[in-house]
Amino acid sequence: MEAGKGGQRGCDKRGRRRFGHRASLGRAYRCRKAKRPQTTPLRAIGWSVIVYGNSLANGRVMNPLIELIAPEPKHAKHWHVWRNQPLSKLYNPMLDQTPDQLSERLSRSQPDLSAGAQQEFRWIVHYSGEPIGTVSLNEVSYRQKHGAIGYHLDERFHQRGFGRIAVSMLIERIFAGTDLHRLIATISAPNIASIKLIEAVGFRREGLLREHFLIGGSYVDVFSYGLLRGEETTHQR
Ligand SMILES: CC(C)(COP(=O)(O)OP(=O)(O)OC[C@H]1O[C@@H](n2cnc3c(N)ncnc32)[C@H](O)[C@@H]1OP(=O)(O)O)[C@@H](O)C(=O)NCCC(=O)NCCS
Repeated sequence: MEAGKGGQRGCDKRGRRRFGHRASLGRAYRCRKAKRPQTTPLRAIGWSVIVYGNSLANGRVMNPLIELIAPEPKHAKHWHVWRNQPLSKLYNPMLDQTPDQLSERLSRSQPDLSAGAQQEFRWIVHYSGEPIGTVSLNEVSYRQKHGAIGYHLDERFHQRGFGRIAVSMLIERIFAGTDLHRLIATISAPNIASIKLIEAVGFRREGLLREHFLIGGSYVDVFSYGLLRGEETTHQR
């Protein structure tokens, strides 16, 4: 079995257990305590000065510079890579789309929330100026005042708290920029990371959609989550 960069099987270089690693499926084990990482200069969001933040021992970063920006055609190739990463394909009924098709989709889903009857709005998640994922508002019903959200990060940036920050920012932006009253999220029952994230930002589990997704030839149960305006949890960022 392959050892993590920290030298211990099933552990990453920061000393955290590697979820999904074969070692983490067996008996319980503890990773050696991680060394505190070096101090890293980071610009805090919304601050006009440069501040210095510490990476925390659990891999999270204080005041990471996460931004949601409008998609450009050049982001299509990144989106294509993220969609084809193992966890995305494992938990989501992903349509096979080429970078050209995704580029066309990006041009139709510009994040101008005041744009009339648009059904999909998409933002690229930037971390320190680098594209690391995407968040979206889809299936908007302007009459019923609800819509669905989606989110997706490059696997290299998982488990650092970035997903939660980006989704919090998405929710804040949707409620500030529209009169939508309710957001929904549908999540494969085994997708623990997504379930933890959505509950952390305030969504409540409202139901189980039995065998709702067809992924890789198998039917998968899906949890349905909902969030009403005013129920969102805000997070430090
Ligand atoms: C879902 C996703 C966006 C989470 O992003 P992330 O940046 O890793 O999430 P965060 O670091 O903010 O973590 C959120 C919570 O999930 C937990 N978590 C993250 N990855 C995990 C994993 N692989 N297994 C178990 N828990 C995990 C974190 O510990 C955290 O829980 P906590 O609040 O109790 O500490 C990311 O896993 C992803 O892009 N997955 C592939 C696409 C996908 O499935 N999107 C969801 C469609 S519904």
